[in-house]
Amino acid sequence: MDIISPFLVLFLSLAVVRWYTAAKNKKYPPGPPAKPIIGNILKVPGSGAWYTLTDWMKTYGDLIFLHGLGNKVLVVNNFDFINDLFEKRWNNYSDRPKFTVAGELMELERCASPLLPYGPEWREHRKLTHLAINTRTIQNYQVVQEDVAAILNSDLLRSPELFLQHLQLAAGRIVLLVTYGIFAEDIHNSYIVNAEESMKTLGKAMNPGAYLADLIPILKYLPSWVPFQKEVQEGKDKLRRHTELPYLHVKKMMSEGIAPLSFTKDLLSLGNTDPEFDYRGMWVASVMYGAGTETTFATSATFILAMALNPEVQKRAQVEIDTVVGTGRTPTIADASELPYTMAVIKETMRWHPPVPFSVPRRTTQDDIFNGYFIPKDTVVIPNLWAVSRSVENPEQFNPDRYLNKDMSNPIPDPSEWVFGMGRRMCPGRYLAQNSLKAIVTGILSAFDILPPENEFIVPKFKPTHISYPEPFKCRIRPRSQEKEQLIETRMLEVKFT
Ligand code: HEM
Repeated sequence: MDIISPFLVLFLSLAVVRWYTAAKNKKYPPGPPAKPIIGNILKVPGSGAWYTLTDWMKTYGDLIFLHGLGNKVLVVNNFDFINDLFEKRWNNYSDRPKFTVAGELMELERCASPLLPYGPEWREHRKLTHLAINTRTIQNYQVVQEDVAAILNSDLLRSPELFLQHLQLAAGRIVLLVTYGIFAEDIHNSYIVNAEESMKTLGKAMNPGAYLADLIPILKYLPSWVPFQKEVQEGKDKLRRHTELPYLHVKKMMSEGIAPLSFTKDLLSLGNTDPEFDYRGMWVASVMYGAGTETTFATSATFILAMALNPEVQKRAQVEIDTVVGTGRTPTIADASELPYTMAVIKETMRWHPPVPFSVPRRTTQDDIFNGYFIPKDTVVIPNLWAVSRSVENPEQFNPDRYLNKDMSNPIPDPSEWVFGMGRRMCPGRYLAQNSLKAIVTGILSAFDILPPENEFIVPKFKPTHISYPEPFKCRIRPRSQEKEQLIETRMLEVKFT
């Protein structure tokens, strides 16, 4: 102790001096050259900015600082740094930025957990979300997920060319069933239509730079006839419909004693009549569709694309499934633990093209010093998950083996540790999402061959939107055999809720 103390004092003194000097000199992380007032922030493109920022790493490194028009943005391009900030310094890095359009004007910063400020109301939302989809409760929904995967296979058998539409519907069906016990017979189902419309509005509002008012907040005072204000009003109406209608539907079904298993039913069964609790519960439920559907769709669409481009990977996973599951039944979620290669295919799908390349940004609540750089209070912090995804050897190569042949001297972070975000606000739906993907991926691989279109190449292209998924592409999805076709039909007979 006597020996350690002087070193400890010296170490702490040096740390304090370093912090003080950096704070005084305000040594910001590097970034592109800046002009007065507008700074360098307008150099970032309004969509798909993760590509540009990952490119800029060559010049500026793992931390890039952007500023201008009163905004400060730190882009973090490295897994360990994101981990250091969001896990170890969570106290300063768990808040969300102020989105003028989505947060303030559409009022989502008051009711939707992904945009709530870090604080007591967020904690209440998080508790309810955890109640809905913790590792134990999600087991109750495994049959629902497997049934939806079975319907998806049947849809793919009937109209394989509409595979993107079927995948989207499957993702929506799972979340609607888990959240409200509602089965959507097709994409014209009113709950799906309302939800998809509000998601479109929200997708745009969450895309940095899509609305000038997010960069220049004073624009929020423009009159209601200005086009973007009209969009805001329409967006609010859509969100209200999407949030209230399915919740009221469950209440009605419960009053008639016919409500099936669902998160909303569990919540209402708690018997808490406080209107504040009711309002919160309604929003927690509604957010699950927004946060859970497009992300699950994005991952499964990327999976189909990857399979069409990588027939040898596909074949290996099919052989593994046939060996473990046999050919007389369809796979279940429980089989996943026996399917390491197929699970590595899911991991590689999420790494190859992370569904939310910029995650959901955070905001610092205090000044900080990190890695010798000054990070001011109120800086928007963007974890560049795209950069993390490119930090492996041959990043464009789709190679599930990278998770199996583990080189311990150079371990790759498991994508499930970062594609869902990190720290206190890490995605609470990750276990549910992973089960959905297990059901969808094993179901499709066991029943179908996925092939590129005849005499055509597929050039992979992805939407540059906040949730990023493949641009429409063609491929052939064919049952692997007559027996498999028969199996799809017989499995459909077991589905209870259609
Ligand atoms: C493949 C599917 C999914 C992906 C890739 C994904 C990804 C993410 C990411 C990156 C975040 C931001 C986390 C952070 O700030 O560090 C997030 C937040 C969130 N996700 Fe997911 N997600 C998926 C599925 C789901 C599902 C199925 C649900 C619920 C049913 C869900 C509910 C949420 C919620 C409520 C938040 C906000 C958390 C907060 O701010 O406290 N997600 N997700």
